[in-house]
Amino acid sequence: MQAVILVGGEGTRLRPLTYDLPKPMAPLLGRPFIGWIIARLKAAGVEDIILSCCYLPDKIEAHFGDGASMGVTLHYVLENEPLGTAGAIKNARDLIRGPIYVCNGDILTGLDLIALREKHEANKALATIHTRAVDDPSHFGVVETESGGRVKRFVEKPKPGETDANDINAGTYLLEMEAVDAIPSGRAVSIEREVFPDLIARTGRVFAVSTDDYWIDVGRPDSYIQAHRDILDGKLDHPLGVEIAKQVWSGDGAPLPHGVTARGPAYIGPDVALAQGAKIEPYSVIYDRCRVGEGATVGSAILWPGCDVGAHANVRDAILGLEVTVEPRATVPRDAVVGRGERVGATAAAP
Ligand code: GTP
Repeated sequence: MQAVILVGGEGTRLRPLTYDLPKPMAPLLGRPFIGWIIARLKAAGVEDIILSCCYLPDKIEAHFGDGASMGVTLHYVLENEPLGTAGAIKNARDLIRGPIYVCNGDILTGLDLIALREKHEANKALATIHTRAVDDPSHFGVVETESGGRVKRFVEKPKPGETDANDINAGTYLLEMEAVDAIPSGRAVSIEREVFPDLIARTGRVFAVSTDDYWIDVGRPDSYIQAHRDILDGKLDHPLGVEIAKQVWSGDGAPLPHGVTARGPAYIGPDVALAQGAKIEPYSVIYDRCRVGEGATVGSAILWPGCDVGAHANVRDAILGLEVTVEPRATVPRDAVVGRGERVGATAAAP
């Protein structure tokens, strides 16, 4: 089996973090986010993977190369302009040999891909869509089905009363070649708005498989933080490194320096320097080569590699991008998302 991962979006909702790093390369506890998807595919026996790229493709290729380090073969297919979620699949048509998984590049899920395929085959479907029930589907694409899972219609971001269904498109599909061939060529095409409605109307062979597996769209700052929390809470099976204190994991196994307090769950990446009196509070994630100064506090925050938190500074409920500096005694505003190389001063207002 093969898979296409859609990784061409600009990740506007994660700006400024995504100004110079594509969303799939955002770090997520030991590997770039897309590494989670590749590992999940590999575990399901999918080793031939096409990355459908558009925005900053070099950053993805520079890290993953031909895929050998993850035990898979990666192909990079580039778009000069965004071709949309179906146009991007069609653009890879020459590499596709048969039924293919399609994964949105921003979904973290524990979905059983093999079970999805078995249901797809039992239904003799042309397209199978993974769905999941949510309490408030108003921000999502809702998938209405008959009993047995045959899809009746798609309702994009429904208004109150527009549909009774609450199963949403969860961003993983299985497509037969016939469904790939049905995608118009040479222009931007949306799979949700154009291809699925067309297949439903013409063939009636689009099915949904609803599961309650772990699932999150990591494309917003709050959900990116939530994904970290969930992994730290053990909701996805993933080794986090060496446990150096209760639920405090270290990427390189370095012990906590004397005089540092750390309350888990938390993750401290390789080559992090924690000064005397630094306090690490629950749900902190401090990536590679960061420095936390004397008496500084990091709590429920995510620090991308190379950040420098000055003495007695406070960083809580925030995301700091690459190489951000927090000046001594500064307090980073809550919910801040600070872009690469910025400086948060002691009198900083929200960036
Ligand atoms: P926002 O700008 O924050 O909405 O993010 P996004 O556009 O990156 O993600 P969105 O949720 O809109 O898209 C779902 C998935 O499809 C993401 O993994 C995107 O990378 C990918 N995607 C969206 N549009 C395109 C496209 O035109 N080409 C390719 N190759 N991938 C796309």
